[in-house]
Amino acid sequence: MSRSQPYQPLLLRILHGFNALLIILAILTSFWVYNTYDGRLIRLPLPNIPDMIGIHGTFGLWVLIIFPFFAVYSFHRGEKRLIQADSVNKLSQVGKPIWWYSLYRIINTIMLLAATWALITGRNMKEEWLPDGKLDMMWYNLHVSAWIILVICLIVHILMGLKVGGVPLIVSMFNWKYRPSDSPKLWGQNIKTFLNKTRGTRE
Ligand code: HEM
Ligand code: HEM
Repeated sequence: MSRSQPYQPLLLRILHGFNALLIILAILTSFWVYNTYDGRLIRLPLPNIPDMIGIHGTFGLWVLIIFPFFAVYSFHRGEKRLIQADSVNKLSQVGKPIWWYSLYRIINTIMLLAATWALITGRNMKEEWLPDGKLDMMWYNLHVSAWIILVICLIVHILMGLKVGGVPLIVSMFNWKYRPSDSPKLWGQNIKTFLNKTRGTRE
């Protein structure tokens, strides 16, 4: 790997990768659910798969399990890639690289909020509503709003990534190679050092 390539910490790649994959699967299966039972705005000629709601609920549940770990990572070790105290001020420097970076950090942060909104509204959904034709339930409409928000944000997130770092940045997020200093073999030791440090500061 050349030195000039962007490098992402392995733990970030693992958490971000699983999280992104599961969210995309939830988005696709949920569109299928909408297409089968609702279809008010658009309807594609997709075949009817019986347990699509169950499949979507399962992916949703997996996001619910993985997402908190990714969010904790982002707010702690990945904090530099999220909104900074001066991000909004930097937005006055329209068109300069820092402007794009500030926007990128803001959209990364919004991704976390959009995913949280989808999870909260999803948890309030009832499996029976759509098969029973109850399309005007408040939580269902809020859950659909989460889909729209998440898809728009995801497109902006990817386009902004391409803008600030180009294809190499996107590839770096899904690359399998890692530096020896980032090896999972060292994670046990890192956790011990971290715990010792926090214990040290408390005493
Ligand atoms: C048009 C968009 C969507 C529709 C029609 C839809 C439909 C549904 C339905 C019918 C349920 C109830 C199923 C069950 O409880 O097993 C549900 C639950 C859920 N959905 Fe969605 N959904 C949509 C978008 C999304 C998106 C984008 C996510 C992103 C992560 C998501 C995550 C969840 C979660 C976490 C649950 C709760 C699962 C559980 O607690 O069992 N949904 N959704
Ligand atoms: C295929 C879809 C996706 C691509 C190509 C992608 C790409 C990227 C890239 C390249 C970065 C690194 C930015 C940097 O080094 O400055 C990043 C960071 C990030 N992505 Fe994505 N992403 C995708 C999906 C998602 C999804 C679904 C979420 C939902 C929550 C998400 C949330 C984030 C967050 C919060 C960060 C910042 C992480 C940190 O604080 O360290 N991404 N993404």
